[in-house]
Amino acid sequence: MTQGIDTAPDEAAAAEAAAALRWLIELGADEAIEEAPLNRFIAAAEPTAGRAVPAQPARPLALQSGGEMVESAVSAARAAATLAELEAAVRAFDGCALKKTAMSTVFSDGNPLSGLMFIGEAPGADEDRQGKPFVGVSGQLLNRMLAAIGRDRQTAYITNVLFWRPPGNRKPTPQESLACQPFVRRHIALVKPKLLVFLGGSAASVLLNTNKGITRLRGHWLEYEDGEHGVQVPVMPTYHPAYLLRQPALKGDAWRDFLAIAARLRELSS
Ligand code: URA
Repeated sequence: MTQGIDTAPDEAAAAEAAAALRWLIELGADEAIEEAPLNRFIAAAEPTAGRAVPAQPARPLALQSGGEMVESAVSAARAAATLAELEAAVRAFDGCALKKTAMSTVFSDGNPLSGLMFIGEAPGADEDRQGKPFVGVSGQLLNRMLAAIGRDRQTAYITNVLFWRPPGNRKPTPQESLACQPFVRRHIALVKPKLLVFLGGSAASVLLNTNKGITRLRGHWLEYEDGEHGVQVPVMPTYHPAYLLRQPALKGDAWRDFLAIAARLRELSS
C-alpha cells in the first residue's frame, strides 16, 4: 500500500522525463556534448552572492557575422597548399556552428589520386562516431555500388559538402553550408579529379548553384566550374544512397548512372 503511494509520483516523474527526452530528440538534441549538464539559463543570469556561477562557454561564433565567417573560411582555404594543410585548416576552423555539437570533423576517405571523387551531403551518427564519411548503412550501399563498377575505397575518394554532423541529421542551414563551401571548393581544386559524382541534391545544389532537384539533374553529365581555382570537371549528379535505401525502385536509375561513370572513366584513361 505504502509502496503504491510512493511509486506513483516516481512513475509520473519518469514519464515526464521520458517525454522531455523524446521532445529533445525530435528537436535534434540527440547527443551529449558535455560531461555534466549545464543550465544555460543560470549561466546567463546575473551572478548572485554566494552562488557559484558556471563558466561561460567560449562564444566566437556570436562575435562573427555570417559574412566574416565566410571570409575567414575563404582565406583559410586559400592558404592551404596541400590536402594535409586543407584538412588541418578545416579541423582548426570554428566558423561553422555544426562543429560545436559534432563529435568529429569528418574530412575524407579513400584515395585522392584515384581520379574519381564522390561528394555527399553530411556525416550521420556513424560517420560522426568514426570520423570517416559514408561508413554507416548508406556507406555500405555506396561500397556495393562502387564494387559494381570495379572500384573500392582505394580507387575512389569520398567527402561531403559539410564536415560536421547536423544534430539529429537535420537539414543544414544556408549559413552552415556557406561556411564550409570555400573548403569544399579548395578540396576539389587540390584533388583535381578526372570525374566528380555528386551524391544527392544537397551536393548538387551547393556546388552547381542550382535549384533543380536531383530527379531532374541525375543521369546527365554537367560541368563543375570554379573560376577562382581555374577548375572545370565533368560531374554526374546521382541519387544519394540513403535515398535509394528508402526508394529501392530507383536503384535501376542509379545503376545506369554508375555505368555511365565507368564508361567515361574508361574513355578518359584510354
Ligand atoms: N550521408 C552523407 O551524405 N555523407 C556521409 O558521410 C554519410 C551519410
